[in-house]
Amino acid sequence: MTTSSPRPPVRAERTQIGIVGAGPAGLLLSHLLALRGIDSVLVESRSRAYCEARQRAGLLEDGTVRLLRATGLGERLDADGLPHGGIYLQFAGERHHLDFRDLAGGRTVTIYAQTEIVKDLIEARTAAGAALHFEVTGTEVADLDTSRPVLRYTDASGDRHEVVCDAIAGCDGFHGICRPAMPDGLLAVAERAYPFAWLGILAEVPPSTDELIYCRHPNGFALHSMRSPQVGRLYLQVPADEDIGEWPDDRIWAELKTRFEIPGWELKPGPITEKSVTPMRSFVAAPMRSGRLFLAGDAAHIVPPTGAKGLNLAVADVTVLADALTDLAGGDTERADAYSQHCLERVWRASHFSWWMTTMLHVSGDPMDEQLMQSQLRYVIGSRAAATTLAENYVGYPPLPSEFF
Ligand code: FAD
Ligand code: DHB
Repeated sequence: MTTSSPRPPVRAERTQIGIVGAGPAGLLLSHLLALRGIDSVLVESRSRAYCEARQRAGLLEDGTVRLLRATGLGERLDADGLPHGGIYLQFAGERHHLDFRDLAGGRTVTIYAQTEIVKDLIEARTAAGAALHFEVTGTEVADLDTSRPVLRYTDASGDRHEVVCDAIAGCDGFHGICRPAMPDGLLAVAERAYPFAWLGILAEVPPSTDELIYCRHPNGFALHSMRSPQVGRLYLQVPADEDIGEWPDDRIWAELKTRFEIPGWELKPGPITEKSVTPMRSFVAAPMRSGRLFLAGDAAHIVPPTGAKGLNLAVADVTVLADALTDLAGGDTERADAYSQHCLERVWRASHFSWWMTTMLHVSGDPMDEQLMQSQLRYVIGSRAAATTLAENYVGYPPLPSEFF
């Protein structure tokens, strides 16, 4: 006879919205819903410290900044964020400036790290007494085609919970469990893998530039970004699946210098505090809703990072979703029914822009591509119409509509 340990009792609970994932999408959704008086339970498989330290995005569109400010999250953003009114495009050994204030009707972007947004959101939600559960395991979503979908998880102390919800938001990123929980055959997936990756570093050295430099060099793309007046964030195009072990710090700085330096301008090196390699892909799964399950952010779509759109798209999705779920709580399904189509219009615009920036700036080694992309870059810096196309997409197109501001 076999004996098994008794199953822990399942705690039955109730909330309006179950949220899976404490990335920017899930945390911001829970914050926006709370401002509307709607309660939520948010579960996250990682620890709070891990979520707050995960190095990712850093560039916020104008609409993202205005939304965060309008919803009470502007204090540290305004104190520490770095407003940028343009970028440099470098190719064929020359650097050119694009002035977004002039080209995009005065709109700008802001450097403020995703880690800081996540800290601000966790702080705000915790101060408001929100139900945020870190280090959960066994997350499951079920009964999605009913009006009472269920979120199940085991908390950090081993207790199993079953939360009956009015709707569930799948904000659990690309590798989460919500997208696979959609009914078989429902999703149409469009996907492209790129044959290169980004090696990203954080360095304790004042940035060598006032605005971001996007650089096409025969050795590959390079991006000089920053996190603060004391900390640089830089990226190098490397082959897909590159082993980070092949890149000691000296080699990274030597390659960054080779790609960026032009006569009269030097790149200052400094201690590297973090380095990683990120693969690049475009991915869109549609529709972003099935029954009472709504996907938002990287759970539904991924863009290559060259256009800095991933985090901004996650923010745009949950802005639309907060409105839809508010109406749903009042019995009005119209905006919930329109949610997927509404989001996908922006998602596809951002997917195209990110693909365009990626192909224009990365090097494939094909001589035909080289000439085509150099021609495109000359057109962008030479034609006001082409420069405006880049600028208005970069600062965020279409401008984020929100009832919060
Ligand atoms: P995530 O941040 O991935 O959050 C999902 C969360 O769900 C995670 O915390 C995960 O642990 C949790 N989770 C997963 N499965 C489960 C489960 N089963 N149960 C419970 N929890 C679960 N975007 C920009 O806009 N601008 C940029 O400058 C930019 N630069 C980038 C640079 C790099 C190097 C990278 C990698 C990305 C960059 N991005 C950028 C993209 C951006 O970081 C992402 O698009 C963004 O994190 C998406 O947020 P999200 O909340 O949808 O998903
Ligand atoms: C950053 C990342 C991007 O992908 C980008 O296009 C601009 C800035 C960053 O991490 O700072």
